[in-house]
Amino acid sequence: MKILVYGAGVLGSIHAVRLYEAGVDVTVVARASRLASIRENGVLIAEGDHGATRSVAVPVTDNPSGHWDLILVFVRTHQVDAVLHSLAGQRGDVLLLVNWAAGPAPLGNVVGHNRVLLGFPTQGGVMDGDVVRYRPETRLTRLAMPIGEPDGRTTQRLERIVEMFRSANFAVAIEPRMDAWLRTHAAFEVPLGLAVHAAGGPEALAQDRPRLRSMVHELKRSLAAMPNATVPRPFGILSVLPAAILVPVFRLFLRSSAAGPLRTDSAAVSEELECLAEQLRSSVLAHSARLER
Ligand SMILES: NC(=O)c1ccc[n+]([C@@H]2O[C@H](COP(=O)([O-])OP(=O)(O)OC[C@H]3O[C@@H](n4cnc5c(N)ncnc54)[C@H](OP(=O)(O)O)[C@@H]3O)[C@@H](O)[C@H]2O)c1
Repeated sequence: MKILVYGAGVLGSIHAVRLYEAGVDVTVVARASRLASIRENGVLIAEGDHGATRSVAVPVTDNPSGHWDLILVFVRTHQVDAVLHSLAGQRGDVLLLVNWAAGPAPLGNVVGHNRVLLGFPTQGGVMDGDVVRYRPETRLTRLAMPIGEPDGRTTQRLERIVEMFRSANFAVAIEPRMDAWLRTHAAFEVPLGLAVHAAGGPEALAQDRPRLRSMVHELKRSLAAMPNATVPRPFGILSVLPAAILVPVFRLFLRSSAAGPLRTDSAAVSEELECLAEQLRSSVLAHSARLER
């Protein structure tokens, strides 16, 4: 399969490197200083804060036109529209691996409904200058990356994609309710991300008891307001468990290495959270309007 990875930030780089090293025909799209850096040095990548930096010569381009079997999109939520428009006139399936709570319809409207698949990356990491520092995998963080067709079917193309990721040793799972999965995740991510941002980082939020309590209440409210059942179902437990249990659990999480990616505090992260919050609000309003009809 000929693969284009759109977005050479943290997740695009991690996936491009591992697919390339597994022998997959992969090219990454980058722009501006990131394009110059990869052209000059390859993709620089290291495990965690202290791992040795390796340079991997993944092919890079600033021009996504060409023939691709599959285009993997790893950009921030608010950056998706521009990417889709640049892919509209091309061929190749498009797998969106992004925080996304607006469903498949707005994607299909631009690139064609039969081209779209949805997923969510479960790897994590941060940019440290030009170096991508990926989160070391532990049994706790080795979660399977969910991928699915918008209508929930298990198709041959989906099976081929899963096989490709597995060839690069990614844990992947076919998810028949991918849209609900993404909305559930957004209902969790938005209150958490906004509170981390307002507190000045995960450790600061862990220390700020009132703010942490109010984040937990907001998170429970956000999950309870969801138009669909939570997917995976255990997320629903968060909306019923008492704050007295959730506050210490979140405190532990915020102090752990698993919260590392939450330390990134850039304009792109804030814009992504705003856009995701807006997508969630719209989906709740659309659901209420459907109920009233
Ligand atoms: N990082 C994590 O640990 C993590 C974990 C789970 C899920 N996620 C989610 O995964 C998605 C991707 O996250 P990420 O951390 O990889 O983001 P990121 O590091 O900000 O990378 C996005 C990359 O896409 C590039 N890009 C955006 N629009 C482009 C365009 N039109 N043409 C070319 N390049 C373009 C950006 O370039 P510019 O810098 O020039 O804008 C940036 O290099 C997000 O939805 C995020 O929430 C992230």
